Amino acid sequence: MSLGHQIDDEFDHQAEVETDFMRRGFVKWFIRGVTAVYGAAFVVPVYRFLRSGGADEGGVQVTQITLNDALKLETGAFQMFRFGSKPAIIIRQGENDFKAYLATCTHLGCTVSFNTGSQRISCACHGGQYDPSTGKNVAGPPPAPLTALKTEVANGELIIKV
Ligand code: FES
Repeated sequence: MSLGHQIDDEFDHQAEVETDFMRRGFVKWFIRGVTAVYGAAFVVPVYRFLRSGGADEGGVQVTQITLNDALKLETGAFQMFRFGSKPAIIIRQGENDFKAYLATCTHLGCTVSFNTGSQRISCACHGGQYDPSTGKNVAGPPPAPLTALKTEVANGELIIKV
């Protein structure tokens, strides 16, 4: 082999090594970029939620609503409603006696409802039951009472607040 061929082979080999090196570098940076984008897509919403303290949509924490529809309920009847972004339940127990709770089961977070037969707030997921007068967990796996909301009837309006 002549010296010219040896030099050409050496250049070819060097070019292959550089191309391979550049390709690996590109792949490495591409993977890092994709990982960063997917990581941000997961982390940013979680960060925003934690930072908001669980605030409702738009960053505004709902602390009070008016629910005049519930004034039409018969005694012993109930209504589901939304308190901000959260599901909630109200039960009429007398003329001006309303009990309202956030309807999120304290076991694993299913939405509870009211069983008019047993007169208990119940969770269909695992059979949890709550006392509608107090929100106390009385049967099944829920470890804690429902979060109670205050109710007030004033000037013909039903106000529900934290
Ligand atoms: S989530 Fe309600 S009883 Fe399990």
